[in-house]
Amino acid sequence: MSNKGTIFEETAEVVEQLRFEADQFVTIVKAEKSSQTAKPGQFAFVECGGNTILRRPLSYLRSSKEDGTVEFMYKTVGPGLEALSQIEIGDEIKVMGPIGNGFIHPSNKNSAILIGGGVGIPPVLFMGEELKKANDDIELVAFFGSEVPFPFQTCTSDLGIPGTDQSLNATIDDMEKLRIPCRLSSQAGYAGCHLGLVTEPASSFIETLSDSEKMETVIYACGPEKMLEAVALLAKEKQLDCVLSLEEHMACAIGGCAGCTVKILEDDHEKMKRVCVDGPVFKAEQIYF
Ligand SMILES: Cc1cc2nc3c(=O)[nH]c(=O)nc-3n(C[C@H](O)[C@H](O)[C@H](O)COP(=O)(O)OP(=O)(O)OC[C@H]3O[C@@H](n4cnc5c(N)ncnc54)[C@H](O)[C@@H]3O)c2cc1C
Ligand code: FES
Repeated sequence: MSNKGTIFEETAEVVEQLRFEADQFVTIVKAEKSSQTAKPGQFAFVECGGNTILRRPLSYLRSSKEDGTVEFMYKTVGPGLEALSQIEIGDEIKVMGPIGNGFIHPSNKNSAILIGGGVGIPPVLFMGEELKKANDDIELVAFFGSEVPFPFQTCTSDLGIPGTDQSLNATIDDMEKLRIPCRLSSQAGYAGCHLGLVTEPASSFIETLSDSEKMETVIYACGPEKMLEAVALLAKEKQLDCVLSLEEHMACAIGGCAGCTVKILEDDHEKMKRVCVDGPVFKAEQIYF
C-alpha cells in the first residue's frame, strides 16, 4: 500500500458546523495530523455517531496546515451522514486519513478543467484552490452542477469563459476570490445558472480550445456516476486527459476487506482495484461504467 504510514487516526474536535439548504452541511474539525498532508481527491474515514457502526468516507473540501483543520461537505442521504449532521461545536469525532491517491497534477500541463457535481464538488474545488496557490499562472476553469441550491455563497462573476453564455454568470465566492472562472449548472432553473447538465458548458468551452491547448489540459472530475460517465465520454471525444474520483461503499477504507473493488483496465488487462487505497482517482479511460 503506497500510503502506508501516512494515514492517521485522530480524535477531532468540531470547530464549525454550517447548515445549507436541502440538508447540506459543511463540518470543520481540528485534525492536527491529517491537516498537514491531506490533498485534493484524498478522503477521510469518518465516525458519524448515532447508531452507525461503520464509518463513512468523505472527501476533503479543504485542509489548513496553519489552523490544523480539515473540512467536509455532505448531504444527508442515510443514517450516517444524518447522525454527523447532528453533531455540535465542541463535540469530538474520530477521523482516519488522509486516504487514497488523490488528484496528481502532471508537471507538463499548465491548464485544467474542474468538473464537480453535487457532493462531488468538494475534491475538485479543493484541487482548483491548491493548483492556483501553487502556480498563479495556471489556466483553470470550473464547472459545477447541482440539483439542489449550491451549498456555497454564490455571487456574479466578471470572469468570462469562452464558448459559454456570458449572461449566465452565477459563480461561487470561493472561486471568484481566487479569480478562477467558474460557471454553475442546474436543471432546477436557478438564476444565472446554465439550465441543463454541467457537461454542456464544459463541452462548449472545450470546443474553443486549439489542439495544442488541449495537449496542455487535464480534466479533474467528481460527482454522480452518470455525470462521470458523461465526462469520460466528453474527454474521449475531445481527446483530453481526464481523471475521475470514484465512490464506492466502504467497510474498512484501508485495503483489507476488498468490499470496494471495481474493474479497471490496466496495461490492456482487466484488474480488480480497491477504490479506497488504489483510488479513489483513476484515469477515465481505465474505468468501466
Ligand atoms: C472516496 C469517497 C468520498 C466521498 N465523499 C463524499 C463527500 O465529500 N460528501 C458526501 O456527501 N458523500 C461523500 N461520499 C459518499 C458517502 O460516503 C456515502 O454516500 C455514504 O454511504 C453516506 O452514508 P449514509 O449512512 O448517510 O447513507 P447510506 O445509508 O450509506 O446510503 C447512501 C446512499 O447509498 C445507497 N446505498 C446504501 N447502501 C448501498 C449499497 N450497498 N449499494 C448501493 N447503494 C447503497 C442508499 O440507498 C443511499 O441512497 C464519498 C464516498 C467515497 C467513497
Ligand atoms: S473498503 Fe475495504 S478494501 Fe476498500
